[in-house]
Amino acid sequence: MRLVEPAQEWEKEHRAYVEEWGLTRMIPSSFDLTGHDTYGAYLKARTLRQSGHGNRVPSSNYFLINDENRIVAMVDIRHELNSFLLNVGGHIGYSVRPSERRKGYATRMLHEALGVCKDLKIKRVLVTCDEDNIGSAKTIVNNGGLEDNSFIDEDGTLKRRFWINND
Ligand SMILES: CC(C)(COP(=O)(O)OP(=O)(O)OC[C@H]1O[C@@H](n2cnc3c(N)ncnc32)[C@H](O)[C@@H]1OP(=O)(O)O)[C@@H](O)C(=O)NCCC(=O)NCCS
Repeated sequence: MRLVEPAQEWEKEHRAYVEEWGLTRMIPSSFDLTGHDTYGAYLKARTLRQSGHGNRVPSSNYFLINDENRIVAMVDIRHELNSFLLNVGGHIGYSVRPSERRKGYATRMLHEALGVCKDLKIKRVLVTCDEDNIGSAKTIVNNGGLEDNSFIDEDGTLKRRFWINND
């Protein structure tokens, strides 16, 4: 099990994940292939986004790969918090492939992502989830998340906010 960065060799697997995901909004959005004519164009846009282009903060994103070279999960790590991330998005966003859920992968991947945060010297990591997302809340608590105040998003969704000490 390892984290790898998106690259041309993962195109087929990435597309298979997106296909399995279906039509709902991709989480994390940094893995959305919509609007990119080729995988190369997606990778180019990713490089720009990661550098903190426009109003974005610098970020990194990774696939979690199993021993059969299958993408089982995806994670996006924001290196800083702006006001949106502080209230709603947090430092880390993730998803697990629908057919691979409830096998501990989200818990494992958040653990790996905290290692990346450590390398980035992020000592307090904010992770958020929707009020009704029990699986995500448990994933965060499994990794030491301590709950802070919640925030009500523009669309009325209540976001639970957790800090993880990453010293
Ligand atoms: C939320 C999500 C990441 C969980 O992934 P996962 O790999 O199934 O999580 P894990 O297997 O590590 O499970 C963590 C815990 O949550 C529990 N859990 C997972 N999904 C659950 C569900 N739908 N309902 C209740 N409990 C759930 C597991 O049983 C486990 O509990 P335990 O620690 O007491 O054993 C996954 O369902 C997903 O990708 N959802 C869509 C995207 C999303 O919501 N991303 C998070 C945005 S904040």
